[in-house]
Amino acid sequence: MPITPQELIANLGDLPPLPQVAAQVLRIAADPDASTDELQKVIATDQALTAQILKIANSAMFGMMREVTTLTQAIMTLGFSTIKSVVIASSAKHLYSRGVTGLQERLMWEHALVTAIAGRAYGRALRFPRTEEVFLAALMHDIGKSVMSIKFADRYGAMIRSVYNEQGDGLTMELDTFGFDHAMVGEALLHSWNIAASIEQAARWHHDPLQAAPEQRNLVALVALGNQMALSQKIGIGTPDSLSIPTTEALEILGIDEAVLESHQDTVLEALDRDKSLIMDF
Ligand SMILES: [Fe+2]
Ligand SMILES: [Fe+2]
Repeated sequence: MPITPQELIANLGDLPPLPQVAAQVLRIAADPDASTDELQKVIATDQALTAQILKIANSAMFGMMREVTTLTQAIMTLGFSTIKSVVIASSAKHLYSRGVTGLQERLMWEHALVTAIAGRAYGRALRFPRTEEVFLAALMHDIGKSVMSIKFADRYGAMIRSVYNEQGDGLTMELDTFGFDHAMVGEALLHSWNIAASIEQAARWHHDPLQAAPEQRNLVALVALGNQMALSQKIGIGTPDSLSIPTTEALEILGIDEAVLESHQDTVLEALDRDKSLIMDF
């Protein structure tokens, strides 16, 4: 029997905090009266984040004509909501990189980004209105894995290696070894960060989208499809076969069949190819 959320929290102990700058940026971005100046001041305290934002403002995907050299310009160019995305992405990257070591750390981050790009591309193809939210939720979907590998380095590392060598299904092995899985841990973390419900629900239910809250079910289904696409591109740990149940559920939720899914495959692969620079740079 799975453990209760209280037992889970007791098992996990202190969770990694949302980086302070990120917390402040999210607060400012959510405030309708906030000014560019306020946002600029907070971001400027973090050099790495500032560099990332300038890079993204200048990246080809935003098709800028002139070079963006100052943070204020970048904020004006990208807008609050994109800045918010960059900040969430940067927090995700930070945490994924702290988790598993070496090769696997890069793989976890690439898996998150490919899932995010693919999920958003499916969302656009299916005319889902909140595609940026799909992107962010997908970026965070496996964050529980990082928390587990930070908390239980040896045991989780050994388990990941077995999954990597295709000796079993990750989710089942997590439950057998720990009594909880990365989806439950991800939800606990994102809940403690007080981040959007869509992101929390995607972390919790990407392996079982039918269980997601009704208002987030379509979004979680798109994350599940992104996840499946990432694994079928061999970006991540595990085989696409292990995701046949979430994929079936996602199709049911979105009201489409395999043939429709396949008809969008080229569009999604093109998006992955186009946004690859984002994967390399970030
Ligand atoms: Fe997962
Ligand atoms: Fe995943």
